Amino acid sequence: MATKETSHESEIINHKLRIRVPATTANLGPGFDCLGLALNWWNTIHVETIARGLRVEVDCPPGVDIPRNRHNLVVYGIDLVYRRAGCKRPPLYIHTTTHIPIGSGLGSSSAAIVGGILAANAMLGNPYSRREMVTLATRIEGHPDNVAPALLGGLMVAAIDGKEVTIARFPVPRELRCVLFVPNVSLLTAKSRGVLPKRIPRADAIYNAGRVALWIAALRERRWDWLDVATQDRLHQPYRAKLVPGMYTLFEAARRAGARGVALSGAGPSVIAFTDTHAEDIGRAMERAAARIGLTGQSRVVSASARGAQVTHIG
Ligand code: HSE
Repeated sequence: MATKETSHESEIINHKLRIRVPATTANLGPGFDCLGLALNWWNTIHVETIARGLRVEVDCPPGVDIPRNRHNLVVYGIDLVYRRAGCKRPPLYIHTTTHIPIGSGLGSSSAAIVGGILAANAMLGNPYSRREMVTLATRIEGHPDNVAPALLGGLMVAAIDGKEVTIARFPVPRELRCVLFVPNVSLLTAKSRGVLPKRIPRADAIYNAGRVALWIAALRERRWDWLDVATQDRLHQPYRAKLVPGMYTLFEAARRAGARGVALSGAGPSVIAFTDTHAEDIGRAMERAAARIGLTGQSRVVSASARGAQVTHIG
């Protein structure tokens, strides 16, 4: 619980929080910038008020450069909420433990932003609803398809209307499993968005709109046989293929091993296959196919997470 200390200048409330935020996979093939799914793969963030300053510590794989100052995305999320609430951020110690691979298309930056926003909201006494936090996070991230499932869990549909984001959440049946292939290379989202055309043919818009609707129908009806078509895309994957070596090879390997559908995860370079059976075989098939073309990386089977980010007061 928060404890209160009263100084002669202002009231200071001490907090010690533990936040868990899931990885997310955006787009799911056709749902560019509007579909996303929370995965059971978690980062943890410790946030604690201290006497003065800002101290950021980061546990992450070697070679990864994460800012340890106000440019850290967790701090960025915290600052956004404090500014919005018209309050000054208290001095903080922040420790992040990063399990979600960075620059891999698994929502690591959204997880950091969402973690910061949730921490700030908790320290301020929860003035903002989860839906309001999605809108705030979208302002930083630019698109809602990672931040919405990171905050709320499940499969999220998100639509931006002016400054607001309308979201709808769909639970994911347990039998649907996700098989990731995460290459040992990273890809900046900005670079991956930079290769996309400004305009697209009407036929491609129709192609994708039908498939997004089919995804939701497949989920509701548990018609996993529909995912083969429902994961197809013409808006981003064909353009990104040149930045993601082996993308189609991995798609093909996953399908042959029994995947129901397969897509680029977010902006890539990870690939995600969806299945209700033989998940480990699909992972091994993707690893073998990658090895054949000299692509290093690891497969991982994860379930969808019904839960989004959680915050616990630990002191
Ligand atoms: N929808 C975004 C994209 C997700 O594909 O660029 C990036 O995290």
